[in-house]
Amino acid sequence: MLDRLNHVALAVPDLDAAARRYRETLGAKVGAPQPLPEHGVTVVFVELGNTKVELLEPLGENSPIAAFLAKNPKGGMHHVCYEVADIVAARDQLLGQGARILGDGEPKIGAHGRPVLFVHPGDMFGTLTELEEV
Ligand code: CO
Repeated sequence: MLDRLNHVALAVPDLDAAARRYRETLGAKVGAPQPLPEHGVTVVFVELGNTKVELLEPLGENSPIAAFLAKNPKGGMHHVCYEVADIVAARDQLLGQGARILGDGEPKIGAHGRPVLFVHPGDMFGTLTELEEV
């Protein structure tokens, strides 16, 4: 069911500082900040040879990463994202095994314009896990 690692998402308190560290100190290919108001985050993509890192900063009042940063004020790993060929089949397999899907359980269009779902971290051994149909 799982294919490639699509990205690792890191919540950061200062997106500009984080982007500079990846670009200037680490010499990575770092994109421009993209505000995604419907997701409550501003995101910067760090392009690596085999995957991506997404730097996430809260955007707006009800950002889904605000509580995470309140608990982890220096930032930290927020979620991992794996690619799947059929997101509805993947969801049904997880639900059939007792795992919980966040929200209403229906795929939403994610930051890359493709359908995504999040699996409850309590059912993934403590790690929030995103699935993206590719
Ligand atoms: Co993600």
